[in-house]
Amino acid sequence: MADYSNELVGTSPAIDALRRLVDRIGRSPTRTVLIYGETGTGKGLVARMIHQVSSRAVRDFVDINCAALPASLLESELFGHEKGAFTGAVDRKMGLVEAANQGSVFLDEIREMDLTLQAKLLTVLDTQQFRRVGAVKPVKVNVRFIAATNKVLLSEVTSGRFREDLYYRLQVVAVNLPALRDRGDDVLTLARHFIGRFNRTYQRNLQGLSPEVEEIFLRYPWPGNVRELENLLERIFILEDEDVIQPRHLPDRILRRVSGPAKGAEAPVPDDPSDYHAATEAFQRRLIRQALAESGSNLQEAAGRLGLSRHALRHQMIKLGLLTA
Ligand SMILES: Nc1ncnc2c1ncn2[C@@H]1O[C@H](COP(=O)(O)OP(=O)(O)OP(=O)(O)O)[C@@H](O)[C@H]1O
Ligand SMILES: [Mg+2]
Repeated sequence: MADYSNELVGTSPAIDALRRLVDRIGRSPTRTVLIYGETGTGKGLVARMIHQVSSRAVRDFVDINCAALPASLLESELFGHEKGAFTGAVDRKMGLVEAANQGSVFLDEIREMDLTLQAKLLTVLDTQQFRRVGAVKPVKVNVRFIAATNKVLLSEVTSGRFREDLYYRLQVVAVNLPALRDRGDDVLTLARHFIGRFNRTYQRNLQGLSPEVEEIFLRYPWPGNVRELENLLERIFILEDEDVIQPRHLPDRILRRVSGPAKGAEAPVPDDPSDYHAATEAFQRRLIRQALAESGSNLQEAAGRLGLSRHALRHQMIKLGLLTA
């Protein structure tokens, strides 16, 4: 259940910095913003906040998911069309960009936009003008485009699926949302926040997490981020009657993930101590392969999971023979 209470819950330095950035960008005159973050990190929430702190807040925030429509439909949704522009265009229709004039347009999953439309979007960003499908005369608008993506766009640029010029245009004001696992105790603050909300929704009086569950929450890597936490807690509200959340209320996938060797715990020791080097490297390879598998082979994300910089991970992979230099 998405709740856009427009509040960024958390006290970690990462979230403090994010709050300041959102405020700053929101109040600035910038016409483009790019939000990058793994799934469930709050991209939709942050886009709305940027709109709400801006002078555009009195006008519309229009939300469109670029992955949800085929290219031709997306174009007429965004820019509208003239009567007779294509079969089925029986009337002139206003597009979302025009409807959001003086307000903000949120282009979610921008990566999915096709190359032709990307070119048109770039023209709109540069000229603040666009043409309805089938129109001769351009229309002038004043909108802020807030784009979001959960994958690093640069790799799409390299592979030719995303226009380089559009990428650099969007990249001017970019916001990186931290993954939940990089936000320290915020997972517990957020859990309290959601428990409070679900207590009201479900008329319950759940007290909170047992110390064991707190421990598990701090160790679990939360691949689905804040949304995963929110959904998990809601499920517990629906399925369980107890007033304190216990480990047995958690799904197996979470318990299994945290029951492996803890950070810094001992890995199996090989019989032959002369194997020291080989064994350490084998272990490193395993960790890296696992992180890559869990992040869909996204180097940036895998590095984040391992607490390494992208550069350091690349370096390690080359050293371990997982990547050629
Ligand atoms: N810092 C936060 N404080 C409070 N709620 C949050 C925070 N971050 C995310 N949420 C909540 O988590 C849920 C997921 O956020 P949101 O839908 O904005 O994520 P997203 O990044 O757009 O995900 P996706 O990539 O899957 O679209 C929402 O209900 C949102 O309100
Ligand atoms: Mg979203």
